[in-house]
Amino acid sequence: MRVAIGSDHAGFTLKEKIKEFLQESGHEVQDFGTHSAELSVDYPDFGFKVGESVASGQSERGILLCGSGIGMSIAANKVPGVYGALCNDPDTARLSRLHNNSNVLILGGRVVEEKTAIETVRVWLETPFEGGRHSARVKKIESFDSLRNHFPPRPNGNPLIILDHPLIQHKVGIIRDRNTTVKEFRELVQEIAGLMVYEITRTLSLEETEVETPISRTKVLTLSGKKLAIVPILRAGLGMVEGILRLIPNAKVGHIGLYRDPETLSPVEYYCKLPGDIEERDIFILDPMLATGGSSAAAIDLIKKRGGKKITLVCLISAPEGVALVHRRHPEVPIFTAALDSHLNDHGYIVPGLGDAGDRLFGTR
Ligand code: PRP
Ligand code: URA
Repeated sequence: MRVAIGSDHAGFTLKEKIKEFLQESGHEVQDFGTHSAELSVDYPDFGFKVGESVASGQSERGILLCGSGIGMSIAANKVPGVYGALCNDPDTARLSRLHNNSNVLILGGRVVEEKTAIETVRVWLETPFEGGRHSARVKKIESFDSLRNHFPPRPNGNPLIILDHPLIQHKVGIIRDRNTTVKEFRELVQEIAGLMVYEITRTLSLEETEVETPISRTKVLTLSGKKLAIVPILRAGLGMVEGILRLIPNAKVGHIGLYRDPETLSPVEYYCKLPGDIEERDIFILDPMLATGGSSAAAIDLIKKRGGKKITLVCLISAPEGVALVHRRHPEVPIFTAALDSHLNDHGYIVPGLGDAGDRLFGTR
C-alpha cells in the first residue's frame, strides 16, 4: 500500500519507528517530514501535506503524529477528502476503519507506547471498511464535505447559495423585464434551470470504471449510482423541469400542487405524487419564486412525511423573508437561488422580482 507519513518534532521518534515497520511490512512509504526531534516545527504544515497526498489519491492512506495527536487531527481534517481518526489503541483504530472508513490515522507521539502504536497501525492498515449501514453515514459526510468545498458557508452558517454565473445572471435579467414575451420567458426559465443544475450537481460523486475505446482499454469516470428526483411545485415549478431533464434524463419527476391563498398568502395543497422510492433519492424541489417561503416549506414538509431525506431547494428568485422561513423550519435544506432580492411588497410579491411566475410562464395574466 502507498502510505504517506508525517509528524512534527514531538511525533518524530515514533514516526521513524512506524516508518521502519511499514517498510519491513512491504508498504511504499512517502515521508513528508519532519526530519528531527530537536527543531521545533508547526504540525499543520505536515498535516496538510499528508492530507493532500491522500485526498488527491497520490497515497492510499496517511499516518500523522504530533505530541497528543489532537492538533494534527484538527489540521488534517481541514483538507477536503480527509477522514482522519485520532486513535491511540488498536480497538478504536479498527472501529475507525470498519465504521468510518478513515483514510488518515493520527497518533499522539507523547501518549502512546511504541509497541501499542505499531499494533494500532497494523490493525488499522489491515481492517477493511464494513459498508452496510455505515455507508450512508459516511456518504453524508462526503456530501457535506463536497458541498462546503464548492459552496462555502454564509456567515450565519445556513446553506444559501447564490449561483452568480454570468450566463445565469444575464438570463435572469431578461426574464425580469416585463416586455419579455411568454415564449422567451419559458425558454429562458428552462435554460436557467439547466445552468443552475449544472452548477449544483458539481458535488455529485464519481466512481471509476473501465471501457474499451476503439484504441485501447481505459479508466473512465461515471456517476456513482446516485438516484435523483426532481419535484416541481405546480404550476410555476413545471417551467424548470425540461431544462433539468435535458441534463439528467433519468431523473424521476414528482409533482406537488400548492397555490397561495390570495388573502392569507398561506399555501393550499391540492396534489402530491412522488416516486415510490423517494426515501432513497437526492431530491431537488423546484420553486421559481421563494417569496414568503410558505409553499417551499410546505413542500419540504410533504416530502419529509413521505420519507424524503436528502432535499435541496432550487429557486430562481428569492426574498429574504422566504429564505428565513425555510431556514427556520428546515435548517438542513440547502437553498440554491439565482438571485436574492430586496423584500416582499404588501401583496407578498418579490421586489423587484419578475411578477407572477406562473402567469408569465403560461400566459394567464
Ligand atoms: C407562486 C410560485 C411559488 C409561490 C411562492 O405560486 O410559483 O410556488 O408562489 O410564494 P410563497 O413563497 O409566498 O409561498 P402560486 O401560488 O402563484 O401558484 P402558481 O405557481 O400555480 O401560479
Ligand atoms: N409568486 C410569484 O409568482 N411571484 C412572486 O413575486 C411571489 C410569489
